[in-house]
Amino acid sequence: MTGQAPIEIDTSKPHPARMYDWFLGGKDNYPVDEEMGRQLVALEPRVPAMAQVNRAFMHRATRWLAMNGVRQFLDIGTGIPTEPNLHQIAQQVAPDARVVYCDNDPIVLAHAEALLRSTPEGVTEYLQADVREPATIIEEARKVLDFTQPVALSLIALLHFIADEDGAYELVEKLLAELPSGSYLMLSHASDETDPEKGAKAMAIYRARGMTLALRDGEQIGRFFDGLELVDPGVALAVDWKPELGEIVEYGGEGPVPGYGAVGRKP
Ligand SMILES: C[S@@+](CC[C@H](N)C(=O)[O-])C[C@H]1O[C@@H](n2cnc3c(N)ncnc32)[C@H](O)[C@@H]1O
Repeated sequence: MTGQAPIEIDTSKPHPARMYDWFLGGKDNYPVDEEMGRQLVALEPRVPAMAQVNRAFMHRATRWLAMNGVRQFLDIGTGIPTEPNLHQIAQQVAPDARVVYCDNDPIVLAHAEALLRSTPEGVTEYLQADVREPATIIEEARKVLDFTQPVALSLIALLHFIADEDGAYELVEKLLAELPSGSYLMLSHASDETDPEKGAKAMAIYRARGMTLALRDGEQIGRFFDGLELVDPGVALAVDWKPELGEIVEYGGEGPVPGYGAVGRKP
């Protein structure tokens, strides 16, 4: 699934995966990514903290799902590998966990090898695809995951790159429609709820480069879970989602970072 064509990295414009890597202090980014990253940090100094809080939410949600019997994960918008990756968290709890990763950025494909170091009992696979093509993702994921058994669909810090007009809600519905009862949706999402003015400026920074940032408020984020049973504490600030599972990120600044996280079960 990792493809045969040479991987081309476009360093002439910033990419979300590489900017996120820069926020996390990684090395797989380019001057264009850093330049836009610095512009966003000048607007909102808590962006690097948001990235860490988000990563910690992914760890806790994955751990909770594995502890609650989920053995299959479909993670779309994986990002450049950053240890521990989702499969490492899941396989710590359940060594036989099967994980399919998916991203549309060639830089992730270039580093996908790190995502493929599974436990011997488990499986990991990587596919290069766009979340706006859910049918393709399902077709490929089916080769690795058993869709008669529960799957956790993981969309961590992904949907704020997809506008309503590009079918953000519909694509989540289409993906969930393929999963059996007892499956889960786990997602996190940046929000402009506490400071819409700053949010509008952030979206303008993306738009000026021909990129999409679609910040949503808590109610709009909750709509991705329509028809699902929300796991406690529901749609919460990512820092407040099951802190008892550990990895709470300490950060300074004014108030909690503006990002939500939630997990819901398909009845
Ligand atoms: C902010 S990063 C999040 C990485 C990881 N999920 C995490 O939260 O730590 C967002 C990721 O979504 C990917 N992405 C953005 N738009 C996408 C699309 N249309 N299809 C698939 N992946 C996409 C980006 O390439 C990037 O790797």
